[in-house]
Amino acid sequence: MSSQRLSGKVAIVTGAGFGFGAGITEKFVAEGAKVVLVDINAANGESVAAAQPQGSAVFLQGDVTSEADWCKALDLAISSFGRLDVVVNNAGIVNKAIVQEEFDRIFRVNIKGLYQSARVISPFLQKQGQGGVFVNISSISALRPRPNLVWYAASKGAASAATKGLAAELAKDNIRCNAICPVAGETAMVPLFLGKPDTPENRKQILSGIPLGRFATPADIANAAAFLASDEAAFITGIELPVDGGRSLN
Ligand SMILES: NC(=O)c1ccc[n+]([C@@H]2O[C@H](COP(=O)([O-])OP(=O)(O)OC[C@H]3O[C@@H](n4cnc5c(N)ncnc54)[C@H](O)[C@@H]3O)[C@@H](O)[C@H]2O)c1
Repeated sequence: MSSQRLSGKVAIVTGAGFGFGAGITEKFVAEGAKVVLVDINAANGESVAAAQPQGSAVFLQGDVTSEADWCKALDLAISSFGRLDVVVNNAGIVNKAIVQEEFDRIFRVNIKGLYQSARVISPFLQKQGQGGVFVNISSISALRPRPNLVWYAASKGAASAATKGLAAELAKDNIRCNAICPVAGETAMVPLFLGKPDTPENRKQILSGIPLGRFATPADIANAAAFLASDEAAFITGIELPVDGGRSLN
């Protein structure tokens, strides 16, 4: 279903080559946005971009932890589409982070990526002078941490806190910042969230904690992101929106 609620808007979507990011890209384009897809994985990113209608999407192979790559993404938005209105900070990684390298990697991608986006994009949006939106994909782990994913949850708690801090800081420029907190989704991350073999029994155990009885789909997250990015959400900033089938009720 499309209402063209993002017509005229230009968005950067990170981690757009797979999972939630691919779903967000498709939804944004269906709602009339032009999208710059950023992903570290060139093959996946190019293939999602190529599947969009001509002229609606361009791909940049980039690493969200790199300031230079954020500058390239901004330049590409302007050279391709003339402006930038929305950033969806979706790229993220999950791991049990027992070893220090993994701990560092989780915080680098999940938090430094947000930091770089804020540093590079906020001054541009302020200069452009027409407001803007950041939608940050956090996790239900930020609100309801569980055993075995402690440092991932900590990184997402920091993502949610950064979102609220930026919302407070940038409101004077009509730049809104909101977080979405998905429950486990049907993406490449499922086996990592399960923390055990991906069997019907192990899935059933996770699903028993989700009142609506299923995992999140990319479309669930994309619908919430499209709303928060749209002018319909013009008075919403600094929230953490659970898209979790009721998981946080338990
Ligand atoms: N899937 C879930 O169960 C779930 C639940 C809650 C929150 N999330 C969050 O949703 C977001 C998307 O997760 P997903 O499940 O779609 O993941 P995914 O692993 O399916 O896809 C992530 C995409 O991000 C890209 N990426 C990874 N590191 C990158 C980097 N440094 N720079 C640019 N691109 C990079 C990957 O190449 C991949 O295409 C993440 O922030 C994740 O933490 C996922």
